Amino acid sequence: MAEVITISNQKGGTGKSTTTGAMAYILAEELGYKTLVIDFDPQGNETELLTGRDTEEFEDNTILNAMHDGDPRDYILAITDNLFLIPADEHLGVFPRYLCGNYYLEDENGNVLRDEYGTIQFSPEGHLILKNTLDKVKDYFDFVLIDTPPMLSDFHGNALAASDSCIIVYQTGKFGFKAVRKFLETIKASQEGSNPNLKLRGILPTMAHTQRSESKAYTHLGKEQYKDIMFDTVIKNTANISQLAIYGFDPKENKGLNKALEQYREVTTEVLRRIKNDIYFEVTEELIGRGE
Ligand SMILES: Nc1ncnc2c1ncn2[C@@H]1O[C@H](COP(=O)(O)OP(=O)(O)OP(=O)(O)O)[C@@H](O)[C@H]1O
Ligand SMILES: [Mg+2]
Repeated sequence: MAEVITISNQKGGTGKSTTTGAMAYILAEELGYKTLVIDFDPQGNETELLTGRDTEEFEDNTILNAMHDGDPRDYILAITDNLFLIPADEHLGVFPRYLCGNYYLEDENGNVLRDEYGTIQFSPEGHLILKNTLDKVKDYFDFVLIDTPPMLSDFHGNALAASDSCIIVYQTGKFGFKAVRKFLETIKASQEGSNPNLKLRGILPTMAHTQRSESKAYTHLGKEQYKDIMFDTVIKNTANISQLAIYGFDPKENKGLNKALEQYREVTTEVLRRIKNDIYFEVTEELIGRGE
C-alpha cells in the first residue's frame, strides 16, 4: 500500500511543485516505484511540469472530477510506466465552495453552523473527500505525492487528512522560514482533528543561495531550531532546477536534467531511509514554539 506524502508549506513560491515533481520522477524513473502525483493546486503547475502540456487540455479530467465521482480511476494519467498524475486546472478553485455547499454542519433547528467570522463549519466528512477518493487506489502504488497550493485553505485540510506523512519545504529567507511554524500548527490541527496518524517526516530547505548571507543564515537557523527534523540535504538555487519548469523531465528535451536532480536524489534517499526506519517527529507545542 502506498505511502501518501503531502509536500507543503502555505508560503507561495517555496519550491513545493518542483520538489514534488523531482521526487516523483526519481522515485518512479530511477528507483522503479509506482508513483502517483496529485496536483491539488488550481494553478496546475505540477500538471504542466510533468506533462509539458497546458492545464486547459485536462478540463473535466482532473482531481476535482475524481473527488466528485469519489473514484480516481478514470482520471489517472500515465506519464510513463511508473509515473502517474491526476491533473488539476483552475476549476479546482471551486473546491472550498463545493465543501460549503455539501458538507456543512447544522444545529438542531437546521441552521447552518458558522464560526465567529461567519465561516461555514464543515462536517468531519468534508475533510476526508480527497482521502476517501485516494483510498480507492492506494493499493496500486508505492508512493502518492500531493502538491498543495500556497495560502492555507481547505486544500491543506484535505491533503493532510489523506496523507500518511508530510514534508515541509521552506525557502531559505525570513518569510519562508517563518512559515514553517505556521505549517507545524496546521499539521498539529490535522493530527488533533481528521488525521491522528499523520507523521511529520522532515523539513527541507530549498532555493538556498550559497553566496547570500541571508539565505545562509536561514539555512543555519533551520538546523539550529529544528535539529534532526531537518534533512541533511539543502536544495540550492540553481539554473538547472529552475529550468525544469521550461524543459521538464524528459532527458532528451532537458540536457540539464541530470544536474537538476542531483540534490533531489540525496533528499529522496533520506526520505526513503526515514520511511524504512519509521523515523518521524512529534509536533509538540515545544516544537512549534521554537519558530518564534
Ligand atoms: N532550487 C531552485 N533553484 C532555482 N529555481 C527554483 C528552485 N526551486 C524552484 N525554482 C523555481 O522557482 C519558482 C517557484 O517554484 P515552485 O513552483 O516549485 O514553487 P511552489 O512553492 O510550488 O509555488 P506556489 O506556491 O506558487 O505553488 C519556479 O519558477 C521554479 O522553477
Ligand atoms: Mg506550486
